Amino acid sequence: MPFRKLPTLIVFISFLSSVLVAQNEITKLPIIPNPSISRLSEGTFSINNMTGITFDKELEASANYLKDYIEKGSNIRLQKGKGIFFIKDNSIKNPEGYLLLVIPGKIEIKAKTDQGAFYAVQSLRQLLPETFENGSYSSKNVYIPATSIFDEPKFQYRGMHLDVARHFFSVEFIKKYIDMLAMLKLNTFHWHLTDDQGWRIEIQKYPKLQEIAAYRNETLIGHYNTDPQQFDGKRYGGFYTQEEVKEVVAYAKSRHITVIPEIEMPGHAQAAISAYPELGCTGEQISAATKWGVFEDIFCPKEETFEFLEGVLDEVLDLFPSEYIHIGGDEAPKTRWKACPHCQNLIKEKGLKDEHELQSYFITRMEKFLNEKGRQIIGWDEILEGGLAPNATVMSWRGTNGAVEAAKQHHNVIMTPTSHLYFDYYQSENDDEPLAIGGFLPLEKVYNFNPIPKELSDEEAKFVLGAQANLWTEYITTEQQVEYMVFPRMLALSEMVWSKPENKNYDDFVQRVEHFHKRLDALGINYANHLYEIEGNLTANGYELKTLTNGKNIRYSLDGSEPNLDSKIYSNPIPINENTYIKATVFDDGTKLGNTFSQAINPHLAFGKKITLNVEPNKAYSGSGATGLINGISGSDKRFGDKEWLGFWGDDVEITIDLGEEKQIQWIKTRFYDAQGQWIYAPKNIEITFDDGRRFPMRPDTSILHPKKSIKYVSIVTNIKSRFLKIKVKNFGTIPEGKQGAGNKAWTFIDEIIIK
Ligand code: ACM
Ligand code: ZN
Repeated sequence: MPFRKLPTLIVFISFLSSVLVAQNEITKLPIIPNPSISRLSEGTFSINNMTGITFDKELEASANYLKDYIEKGSNIRLQKGKGIFFIKDNSIKNPEGYLLLVIPGKIEIKAKTDQGAFYAVQSLRQLLPETFENGSYSSKNVYIPATSIFDEPKFQYRGMHLDVARHFFSVEFIKKYIDMLAMLKLNTFHWHLTDDQGWRIEIQKYPKLQEIAAYRNETLIGHYNTDPQQFDGKRYGGFYTQEEVKEVVAYAKSRHITVIPEIEMPGHAQAAISAYPELGCTGEQISAATKWGVFEDIFCPKEETFEFLEGVLDEVLDLFPSEYIHIGGDEAPKTRWKACPHCQNLIKEKGLKDEHELQSYFITRMEKFLNEKGRQIIGWDEILEGGLAPNATVMSWRGTNGAVEAAKQHHNVIMTPTSHLYFDYYQSENDDEPLAIGGFLPLEKVYNFNPIPKELSDEEAKFVLGAQANLWTEYITTEQQVEYMVFPRMLALSEMVWSKPENKNYDDFVQRVEHFHKRLDALGINYANHLYEIEGNLTANGYELKTLTNGKNIRYSLDGSEPNLDSKIYSNPIPINENTYIKATVFDDGTKLGNTFSQAINPHLAFGKKITLNVEPNKAYSGSGATGLINGISGSDKRFGDKEWLGFWGDDVEITIDLGEEKQIQWIKTRFYDAQGQWIYAPKNIEITFDDGRRFPMRPDTSILHPKKSIKYVSIVTNIKSRFLKIKVKNFGTIPEGKQGAGNKAWTFIDEIIIK
């Protein structure tokens, strides 16, 4: 019989139709990530002291996990026997897939592996009241709605990273973090254990890593771009003992999470070199870094360095059973190698072209060592430079080009582009956000990321194993702040890597996130809540206000007062004919929900007129387009990543503004971002040409000084009549030696051009 072996799904659906009570009632379940197929039907199953639990031996761990969860969460005690059944089912193809069936008489969980069953339990957990999360469910019975779910992940690699080098977090917190990943069906924890500012894993063969490399003398206060930089004068550090590492790895394993350790090489090695200066090119004594960025002292590829790294990795391999070991590979300046006789000799001796090929030689040699021990390497996308090691997996972080290149070479890739998956970026444009490195990555952008780059064929796309979000902790000093940065964006990540495109819908997701808040509250997780915030947009009809969640009112004022229940309810765009200051807040019945949004819109001569640019702004920083430069709205003082700043990478920019008719122009002002740590420089010069051909430079406006000096104001007083203005903005040029990003083109960020 050719049709005996039906696909799991069809078997499941026909199975459902025989058991579901009310076929026509199909409502969405509030589960994150959204399951492949789910139905809610009539009736409930009650769990109480009479309920039994039965399992096939291979699913015992997940059965016990559920029993523990229920018994810790409530006074209910489960019996052995009928009620909840864990059944091994080899017809479920995907080892991470599961079936969850809740009907009035029983609960059935079917999976081929314990991991699949574990994910069924995580879905079931989200059908239980939130009070189970903190042990405060007090009733003797809990009713679960009759439900049927078939579920499996879209991607096999679903990761979350944490940098414990810049700031150190307790073992207890690492376990909480792992619990958060498990709840959301993520399966990989990338533990970034070594960097310039601290070495965080005990290596018994090299005790100075614990004594010296694990500590820095002090730490930068505030943002890197603050001028002058200030330091706290306090020694900072710590490391995980091997016993603690084993405990974390075992804890993760019991939650079906693989821990991938990252041991950085050849760059980001300043802490290690501070303990063993002979591992660097100069042999000079240095200290672990006390501020952020990229540092020139990297491992020198000499025999004793390889011996050291192999000694380190031998111990690492004993602690981490993961197939993959992350060897870093990113941001390794070649300054020291260029000046090092050993490095230069090695280049000659091995017939290498340059320092990039020397890095490739370094990585390939470490790959060979690890491959011989049955392990595979992952490296950041810089490992493509100078040629990929034969079996390496590439983690694409500088956009997606690295992924495309690696997949086309038939290497596996994991997507972690800064633009969509760097959770150290700001998630809201509010002024009261905690200090972050920069950038802007709201929830929706994470949610809508497609891990498969458009440039790949279906065949090449198979090399994309999945995606991961990264949390670098330069500006994240506490565990509460880690939680704030990862939630709710981790919810979006989980659905992006787990759910199939046809099961993804942002508006629906937001409603489930709102529901999920209660669970996060019960878990004591310090999530960011920007769901009740307001987004404003200037349109041809006026200023539009929107909020994310349904069924709420936006109330607003135009007189600077805090909106309250007597304020006007927003229904139509607010006309802008003069200086307008809008304050708006979301209300639910009688309660104020979110932060108050405020926006000043100050029309000027160019407001609503025509503007053209000779070059497009960079895709990642195109704000609200060219018109954003004359929309009456100034950019944030703190964040160049908002809608109002336009970013250009290396280009000279020519801006033409057409005022529609000749106007008397008294003065012109604008501003430029100047955050040199992030490669952003004020332009070399700015020149304005008027209708009559006269040209004038714009000069720094010293009457205004930005407190952080990260913004340069420029202005010009003219009193000239003109219809057209041509503004030439000359890029700063190449970033000089000794600065972050030296040798690269500088960015130009320009704000509103105010013409009066
Ligand atoms: C990275 O963010 N340097 C991988
Ligand atoms: Zn060297």
